[in-house]
Amino acid sequence: MNIAIVGATGNVGRKMLEVLEQKKISIGQLFLVASPRSAGQKVNFNGKEQEIFNLETYDFSKAEITFFAAGGKISEKYAEKAAKHTTIIDSSSFFRMDQDVPLIVPQVNPEAINVLKKNIIANPNCSTAQLVIALKPLHDEFNIKRVVISTYQSVSGGGKKPMDELIEQTRLSLDKKKINSKNFTKQIAFNAIPHIDVFADDGYTKEELKMVNETKKILDDKIELTATCVRIPVLVSHAESVNIEFEKPFSLEKIHSLLDSAEGCEVYDIREDGGYITPLEAEGKNETYISRIREDKTKKNTINMWIVSDNLLRGAALNAVEIAELLIKKNNG
Ligand code: A2P
Repeated sequence: MNIAIVGATGNVGRKMLEVLEQKKISIGQLFLVASPRSAGQKVNFNGKEQEIFNLETYDFSKAEITFFAAGGKISEKYAEKAAKHTTIIDSSSFFRMDQDVPLIVPQVNPEAINVLKKNIIANPNCSTAQLVIALKPLHDEFNIKRVVISTYQSVSGGGKKPMDELIEQTRLSLDKKKINSKNFTKQIAFNAIPHIDVFADDGYTKEELKMVNETKKILDDKIELTATCVRIPVLVSHAESVNIEFEKPFSLEKIHSLLDSAEGCEVYDIREDGGYITPLEAEGKNETYISRIREDKTKKNTINMWIVSDNLLRGAALNAVEIAELLIKKNNG
C-alpha cells in the first residue's frame, strides 16, 4: 500500500507522520508533498530521509491512499481530480457537508465508509471529532435531545504560524512591547477571543456552524446543538464545556462506565483539586478525556461535562490515519 500526504510539512501533516510511525502500518512507498517552497527538502520517516515533492508536478497515481492536510483551497483545487487515481482522506472543511462524501470518526460511524461515490472521505473539524466520540456512547444509551457547547481551543487549530505568533506575542507582552496581531483578530497572549473562522449572517461563526452541522451528519440529524467557539492562549489541545440533555433518565455511575469503556475515551474525574484533565496533559495522547461529569440540577435528564483532546491527533492526524485503517480493512474484505 503506497501512501501520500499533501501538506506533509504542516502541523497536521507532521503529526500524520508521527502517527504512521507509531501505528507501524505497513507502507510500501510514502510520498510527501507540499508547496514549491518545501520541494526538495528532506524529512525523516522511520529513520529514512524522505524527499518532499512539489504538489504542482506530483503524480497522484503513485499512491492508493492520499491524505490532504494543506487547507481547503488546496483540497478544492486538487482533490476531485486526484480522486480519479487515489482515495482521498481530506482534513479540510471543503467536502465535509457534501452529501456524496462520508464524514467519518471510525469509533462513531464506521459504516459510512461503505458508500464512496467520489472516492473522497472527509475528516471532521477538530472540535467535532472529540465531541462526537464522547457523545456517541451516551446517545446510544440515553438518546441525546440537545447539546450546548462552549469551546476553549488552542492556537494550533489555526496552523503552525499562529503557534509561533502566540509565543512571540507572549514575549512581547512580558517585555511590555507593542503587539500587532497577524493571525488573530485581537491579541491572543493573555487573552481569549470568541471568534474562530469567519462570521455567518446570523452572528454565528463558521467554526460554530461546523460543530453543529458535522455532529448532526456524523451522529444523528435529530440532535439539537448550539455552540460558542473561543480561541485561548494554549498551544495544543482543545477543551469543551458541554451541557447534554437526554430523553431518558440517567445515572452518573452509568455515564462514567459507558464513557470509560467507549473506544477512544477515558474518564478522569475525581472530585478534588487536580482531579480533571487539562489541555497540557492531553497533548500527545490519543485518548479523548472526560472530566467534571455532574448533574445539571436546573434541567431534567441533563448533565455537564468537560472534554479535552489533542486537536492535532484526535481532531486531525490520528482520526485521518484511523480512517485509512478502516479503508484498508474494507478493501481487504
Ligand atoms: P509548505 O510548508 O511547503 O508551505 P499549516 O496548516 O501548519 O500551516 O500547514 C499547511 C501545509 O499545507 C504545509 O505542508 C504547506 O506546505 C502546505 N501548503 C500550503 N500551501 C500550499 C500550496 N500552494 N501547495 C502545496 N502545499 C501547500
